[in-house]
Amino acid sequence: MTKFQERVFSGVQPTGTLHLGNYLGAIKNFVELQNKYNCIYCVVDQHAITVEQNPVELRSNILEVLASFIAAGVDYKKQIIFQQSSVAAHSQLAWVFNCVSRIGWLNRMTQFKDKAGKNRENVSVGLMVYPNLMAADILAYLATHVPVGDDQKQHLELSRDIAQKFNNDFGVNYFPQPEPLIYGNATRVMSLRDGTKKMSKSDPSDFSRILLTDEDESIASKIKKAKSDSELIPESSKDLQDKPECLNLINILSACLNQSVDKTLQNYSGKEYSLLKKDLAESLIQIIKPMRTEIKNLLNNKDELDAILKDGTQKATNIANPIIEDVYKIVGFK
Ligand code: TRP
Repeated sequence: MTKFQERVFSGVQPTGTLHLGNYLGAIKNFVELQNKYNCIYCVVDQHAITVEQNPVELRSNILEVLASFIAAGVDYKKQIIFQQSSVAAHSQLAWVFNCVSRIGWLNRMTQFKDKAGKNRENVSVGLMVYPNLMAADILAYLATHVPVGDDQKQHLELSRDIAQKFNNDFGVNYFPQPEPLIYGNATRVMSLRDGTKKMSKSDPSDFSRILLTDEDESIASKIKKAKSDSELIPESSKDLQDKPECLNLINILSACLNQSVDKTLQNYSGKEYSLLKKDLAESLIQIIKPMRTEIKNLLNNKDELDAILKDGTQKATNIANPIIEDVYKIVGFK
């Protein structure tokens, strides 16, 4: 097997304002990965339209996610951030992959089954072939490493299958097998109202999530109202197994302080949750305030954001276009 140059690719869908779960679960890791890899981070707007979107909201969500990448510390000068639809290679490679991938493979995707439910005949074709586009995103840059959460692991495996089938079908060793990068200390942030559900932009309660654009008072009041417990904080995380909301608060604080859950429990055991919540609100405000300010600045300065985007598009295109050229030769278009 030839050695492929190491490169990270990941994508985030522009389907709403980013929340703490997106930050602690993914984007904070994107920032750490840039010390070790060349990274490409993409706002995957083409994925977003596999389900219905309001065009005006979509446009503003795209800019908000880009601004959030930058505000969180992605180094757009050294790395690449851009919008998927602005680089044609994604659609071009996706079409080739539509013809490599098998319907049976896509039918097995659990996310498709969940999202389509009983409505299979009526969902968009895009929703079904979405994993082929995701494979194209990654492989249009011959990316070798992909930071993904649990819910995307199956899609990443499909990307590996597509890469391998392409290589076999055409007798080449062109595409690498992209590997998942399991986040080091990523935190699964759960809803502040129900600790068994992931924090999500689709939860009807605003109090279930903290947005990266939330004001200080709003952060404080959401944490204050977060579900917890009237008992004292225990010594061991085992004692929190049936108290998911409490464990969630402790997990979030540990992530904010970059320390282990055990360490946090050591510091707080025997104390009341109200004290932990006070400290948690302070930590969160410290992290979110500068991001919120930067996001707002960028969104008020569209020229700067446009310039950054244009640069990202150019850099991404420069990598992807020669790869599309190669693929077109391999399949016989050229
Ligand atoms: N499907 C991913 C999600 O919903 C987003 C995504 C699109 C992605 N293309 C990607 C993630 C490529 C990693 C690599 O979260």
